[in-house]
Amino acid sequence: MGNNLLKGKKGIISGALDESSIAWKVALRCHEEGAAITLTNAPIAMRMGKINELATAINAEIVPADATSTDDIKKLFERAKEIHGGGVDFVLHSIGMSPNVRKNKPYTDLNYDFYLKTLDISAASFHKMIQTAYQLDAMNEWGSIAALTYMAAQRVFPNYNDMADAKALLESVARSWGYHYGLKKKVRVNTISQSPTYTTAGSGVSGFDVFYNYAESMSPLGNATAEECANYCVMMFSDLTRKVTMQNLFHDGGYSNMGVSGKVMEAFKGEGKKVE
Ligand SMILES: NC(=O)c1ccc[n+]([C@@H]2O[C@H](COP(=O)([O-])OP(=O)(O)OC[C@H]3O[C@@H](n4cnc5c(N)ncnc54)[C@H](O)[C@@H]3O)[C@@H](O)[C@H]2O)c1
Repeated sequence: MGNNLLKGKKGIISGALDESSIAWKVALRCHEEGAAITLTNAPIAMRMGKINELATAINAEIVPADATSTDDIKKLFERAKEIHGGGVDFVLHSIGMSPNVRKNKPYTDLNYDFYLKTLDISAASFHKMIQTAYQLDAMNEWGSIAALTYMAAQRVFPNYNDMADAKALLESVARSWGYHYGLKKKVRVNTISQSPTYTTAGSGVSGFDVFYNYAESMSPLGNATAEECANYCVMMFSDLTRKVTMQNLFHDGGYSNMGVSGKVMEAFKGEGKKVE
């Protein structure tokens, strides 16, 4: 049940592919809290995913846009302005894809055409979205922009591959735009660093079950679920967080500040016990 935290607000939510997508849950929660939403995803996701079901459930229009295309993004913001009769109050970037991960190219043998695609789809697209909104003046004053990221931007998770570099760039883009958009229109820009979550993108990383189980065993509060991430996004889009900007916000049950947990200590008990 909602608390009208987003009553009267309008937002754009990218990246809802199917009901496991984090963006799917965010869209449902934002709708529940009273927001009017425009959905967007890559044209191919329209054919493969189930976004139409979500659109019907929350009474939203879908505007297809490849996040690497500035033309598409421009059309997205222009259409959103028409739909909502003016600027929007929040934007969620929930987009990630690495052709190197898809094609099992390890970090030590990257294909550089793929690498540029990874950075373009997963990070530069955030810059493109914000720059387009900025130049079209498509955000309302005190608006909130957020992107989903992962802790591989700070620590090494070998199988996360070139997505780690993309996330580091994504987080830097948030800081830089937070300055510029804050000055211009009091718009805040943040990244939310989410726990491993079973979704199409998440499960595409090899050894994802190990990431998930290890983080679960290390975090005092356990991994954050997609539903909990949606709650966090609602808070970030609400007026209760107006002065939070240029931050990378960990939403991970405490994992990012852990050294070792009792459970993991238990697994390594015994003199000389180690993983070969
Ligand atoms: N699942 C996790 O464990 C986890 C953890 C931390 C952060 N994240 C991040 O959350 C975000 C959402 O991922 P998810 O886990 O919900 O998976 P998902 O696969 O449901 O969502 C990824 C979305 O990116 C979209 N996309 C890919 N290429 C695109 C393009 N060119 N243009 C527009 N959209 C495009 C896909 O269509 C899809 O909807 C990603 O940024 C991901 O890195 C996920």
